Amino acid sequence: MAKVIGMVTTSHVPSIGNAFAKGLENSEYWSPFFDGFKPIREWLAANTPDLVVVFYNDHGLNFFLDTMPTFSVGAANEYVNEDEGWGIPTLPAFKGNAELSWKLIEGLIEHDFDIATCQKMKVDHAFTLPLKLLWPQEAQCPVQTIPICINTVQFPLPSARRCLNLGRTVGEIINGWDENLKVLVVGTGGLSHQLDGERAGLINKEFDLKFMDSLIATPEWATQYTNMELVEAVGTQGIELLMWLAARGALPPKVKKVSSTYHIPISNTAGGIMLLQPEHQ
Ligand code: DHB
Ligand code: FE
Repeated sequence: MAKVIGMVTTSHVPSIGNAFAKGLENSEYWSPFFDGFKPIREWLAANTPDLVVVFYNDHGLNFFLDTMPTFSVGAANEYVNEDEGWGIPTLPAFKGNAELSWKLIEGLIEHDFDIATCQKMKVDHAFTLPLKLLWPQEAQCPVQTIPICINTVQFPLPSARRCLNLGRTVGEIINGWDENLKVLVVGTGGLSHQLDGERAGLINKEFDLKFMDSLIATPEWATQYTNMELVEAVGTQGIELLMWLAARGALPPKVKKVSSTYHIPISNTAGGIMLLQPEHQ
């Protein structure tokens, strides 16, 4: 049977791309963040996935404000990265698996999720950089991917409850597949940050740490908040923490924390990284 073997969640600031390009991983500024991936890469070496499902938010590369699906799922055999204007190197195309994507899409529709299906989907820094952080030595990401994009760019956004339920449904569907497949789920974005307006620079360490802790045993904790309350707590872009909730949903209720890191700041963002796995595995 297929199985979701773990969850990695991480911030996705574009300047990570520059840090890679300039070989700055061990610099004073970057090492507290990059070092957080060392235990994750060790775990990956022992728990090699066959497929990575990535919950992320597009920032204007594939979807623009005129057409904004709440949830969209990639259904292609290849996902191309393009220049977004951040001045970071474009990464080689990511492998997809259209057949598995369609299986997941059929399951989601059966479970009453109305999603956009994308047989062409460009992937931005929120998808590419976290995968690069997992496999930094590989020119091209070695594992097949399914992108699941959640709108956190233009209101109205899906609620925390709905994102957690999306993840739970994705986990249920995958764990019901007959194939012998190990699946890693990744959630990218957050933690607290606000890039614009009067509150630009906002960080909320107390909330971030409470949120990270809640993911272990009480992932419903964040669903008590409306999106407006979440934005107030963690900033207009900090709401990207919805990806973490979706990814957590795909794991069973009982999980074990393998590692976590929290470091302020990475660019304008509170950098968080977490790896959880099912308790019994
Ligand atoms: C930054 C963070 C993001 O999540 C993003 O998408 C772009 C920029 C930043 O902190 O610079
Ligand atoms: Fe972002």
